This record gives sequence, structure tokens and C-alpha cells, in this order.
Amino acid sequence: MKVIVTGGTGYIGSHTIVDLLENNFDVVCVDNLSRSKKYTLVEIEKISGKKINFYQIDLCDKQAVLDLFSEHNDAVGVIHFAALKSVPESVENPLLYYTNNIDSLLNVLLAIQQFSIPNFVFSSSCSVYGNAEQLPVTEQTPIKNAESPYAHTKQIGEDIIRNFANTNPRINSILLRYFNPIGAHPSALIGEIPIDQPNNLVPYITQTAIGKLPQLTVFGNDYPTRDGSNIRDYIHVCDIAHAHTLALNFLIDKKNTSNCDVFNLGSGNGVSVLEVIQAFEKATLQKLNYTIGARRAGDVVAVYADNTKAAKQLNWQCKYNLEDAMQSAWNWELKMQELF
Ligand code: UD1
Repeated sequence: MKVIVTGGTGYIGSHTIVDLLENNFDVVCVDNLSRSKKYTLVEIEKISGKKINFYQIDLCDKQAVLDLFSEHNDAVGVIHFAALKSVPESVENPLLYYTNNIDSLLNVLLAIQQFSIPNFVFSSSCSVYGNAEQLPVTEQTPIKNAESPYAHTKQIGEDIIRNFANTNPRINSILLRYFNPIGAHPSALIGEIPIDQPNNLVPYITQTAIGKLPQLTVFGNDYPTRDGSNIRDYIHVCDIAHAHTLALNFLIDKKNTSNCDVFNLGSGNGVSVLEVIQAFEKATLQKLNYTIGARRAGDVVAVYADNTKAAKQLNWQCKYNLEDAMQSAWNWELKMQELF
């Protein structure tokens, strides 16, 4: 069974391709390589022992997308990762985010409709919940105002797909709301490759530990949480990746009761920034140089998932814990030092 994966050389996309190949899917990988490296393809092929059909295409180019889908109109599904994902960059350059993330989604949906591709999986985000009043958040938790243009593009994307589903009853979609993906493949052959400055906590930690950055700043220790730092739900990227294979199979096996369903993908554990640092130090025996700084604009106080729905319906369970994730992130940082 053939699946088209957009953003396939990116962080979650690359780990998902490995999981799909392990589960006997054929993969057509599409990426414009604007935030990822072609090198990742070679490493995916090393891990899986399989060849990938790769197209360097910008999904904002409608004709290129239609040509690609015309060539692969026998695909059983599409997994759409391709998007820009930096919260601060989206605040600085909202039009870039709205244009890129929405135009690409519209072109992909148009092609899915035109070639009647039956199944679609979309990368959404827990940021759609905004500052949720009740924790943990379930899929029914009300959607609040987005805290950034990035988060808004995910809310708009979900709305577009819901409308699309209403008028395309034979096409089935799943929206996957990721919490905070961290870590890297156990082989240390693929992982997140930050372009310029890292965007997220764990690459900041590993780059500080290896000496690329002088110090980590914890953004605030005066929040109303158990130790004053923000709480998030950190989840190993390989666990997130496997959920995509399960979601696609769920649709292929026609187990869905709605043609547009949504699942939270989080570990279910709320962990503070200071606890992440402790887990890193414990797992890797590295001492981290960090300091407490001011709060970061746009940060929600705490968010973590109720993942019961994915566990029950997709039969999804996390294989890795926080320390496994920190160890794999560190192994990947060490590997990147050799590579780049
Ligand atoms: C946000 C979104 C998430 C999105 C991700 C994309 C929310 C709730 N989550 O994650 O959906 O997929 O961006 O990038 O909006 N921190 C420090 N020091 C640092 C870096 C981070 O203390 O140098 C803290 C942050 O204040 C935060 C936590 O670490 O409390 C995690 O931050 P980060 O990794 O940037 O992810 P989110 O902002 O939670």
C-alpha cells in the first residue's frame, strides 16, 4: 500500500516514514527541504533497508502537487506534515505562516479530492487548545483563542478539513494533536536538525550540554505549578510516529465512525521544565548549566493530554519514557557533532 508523506524529511515525518516502512507501506516522500536536509533520506534508507521515492516539491505550487498526485493516484492515503512550526517566528512573520501552512494544505486537499485518495492524516497540535481551563485536555476540551499565528494556522487547518469532510463523505480524515515531541530514533541516525537557533526546549538542553550554547534559560519559575516552571506533555517522537501508522490502518480498516476524527497524542504526564532538566541529567550523567530567567511571551502555564481515546480506539501505547527520550536526544546531539 502506497502512502504519500509530505514534510517527510522533517523531524516527525522522517520518524514516521521509518515506522510506515517497518509496517510494509510503500512511501512517496515529498519535501521542499526548506527546513530539513536530504541527508535524512539516506539515513532512513539505512535504518529500513528500503528505497524511498522522493520529490523535492513546494506544496504551495498547485500544479506540482496535482502532477505528483496524478502520478501516484493509487495511493491509499496521505499524511500531511509539511508546515512551518516555530512559534516565535510565526509571531514575527505571520503572513509567512498563514500563506505557507494554509496554501499547502489547500493544494493537498484539492489533489486528494481530484484523485479520490480515500484517507488523510493531518499534523495538528495541542496549541489549538490555547490556555485550557481544565487539565488534562481531552478531544472535547473547548478550543480557545490561539496564542500564536502558528497555533492559529493549525486551528484554521482543522476547520478547513472539517468543512472538506462534510462535502467529501467518501474521504476519511484524522486530525492528530501532538503535544511536545522530543527525542530521536534509537539508532541515532535521524533526529531533529535545528536550522540556526533551536526552537524547542530539548534541543536547547542538548546544545547547551555539548557546548554549542553557553547556558539554558528556564523561562520563569513563578508560575502556579508545583515548582514554578511551565508544565508540558513531552512524548518520544517514535511513539508519535507509530500513532500515524495506527491512524492510517484505522482508516484503511474502516474502523472510524466519523469521516473526520481527532486524537490527542501525548504521554498523559504533565512534566515541568525543571523536571525535564533533572531527567536529562539523570539519563545522561551530564551536568547542565542553566539559569532562571523571565517568562517567555505566549507560553501557556500548563498543558498535558488525556490520551484515553487514542489508547482505546487506535490501540496506541507509549513505548518510551522521559528518560529514554532524553538519552536518545543526547545520543543524537553527539551524532550531529560528527556530522555537521
Ligand atoms: C509549542 C506548542 C506546540 C508546538 C511547538 C512547536 C503550546 C502549548 N505548544 O510548544 O504545540 O508544536 O510549540 O514548536 O503552545 N523553555 C525554556 N527554555 C528554553 C526553551 C523552552 O524554559 O530555552 C520552556 C518553555 O517556556 C516551555 C517549555 O520549555 O515551558 C517547552 O517549550 P518548547 O519546547 O518551546 O515548546 P512549547 O512552546 O511548549
